[in-house]
Amino acid sequence: MGKVYVFDHPLIQHKVSLMRDKNTTVKEFRELATEISTLMGYEATRDLPLEEVEVETPICKTKTMMLKGQDIAIVPILRAGLGFVDGMMNLVPNAKIGHVGLYRDPDTHLPVEYYCKLPVDIENRQTFVVDPMLATGGSAVAAIDFIKQRGGTHIVFMCLIAAPEGIETLQKAHPDVDIYIACKDEKLNENAYIVPGLGDAGDRLYGTK
Ligand code: PRP
Ligand code: URA
Repeated sequence: MGKVYVFDHPLIQHKVSLMRDKNTTVKEFRELATEISTLMGYEATRDLPLEEVEVETPICKTKTMMLKGQDIAIVPILRAGLGFVDGMMNLVPNAKIGHVGLYRDPDTHLPVEYYCKLPVDIENRQTFVVDPMLATGGSAVAAIDFIKQRGGTHIVFMCLIAAPEGIETLQKAHPDVDIYIACKDEKLNENAYIVPGLGDAGDRLYGTK
């Protein structure tokens, strides 16, 4: 079973609380999403492999550690996942970016696919699937299905707020995928929105409501 990491870092908790606040502006919401994804990405990349290399400092030659050519892909689930890309790119500027387009049908709450474009060598990359919200889990499961269908194997999922239902569904469907979340909330409401949550992440990020 994939591990679930819940971040209890005070900076992350503080910033998520600001994002929850309905009075937070679109500009602030975007900036906070970027800041939190950098903080979460720092921890989620902890297991990237290192190798010893030789470097010449102004003083002498020395053996030191660098990333072992691990190629990384960041795959936001459109739209709201785009809010996580800049923050991750701050850490891994050479990462390739894939995109999976999904929206939830308002009646069934099931994900509907409208776009999928991934790096051609996705099978060789450590892939970070990013989306602020894990509600029913349907979108995350479908996005990871697409990535696996195209050969992806080393996949982790990162989100801001998760409902217990979404975590369980994702773990059952993809037991090999570790899940990084900033906050685990109480439940889903009758419209499959996370309670207390932060509302519709895409609308808050892009000011569409
Ligand atoms: C939101 C969110 C996730 C999905 C989570 O996207 O960004 O992708 O809902 O819900 P689930 O776990 O029940 O599938 P939405 O469908 O609202 O699309 P948007 O990002 O384009 O607004
Ligand atoms: N999608 C969102 O943007 N918010 C929720 O609470 C659930 C799904």
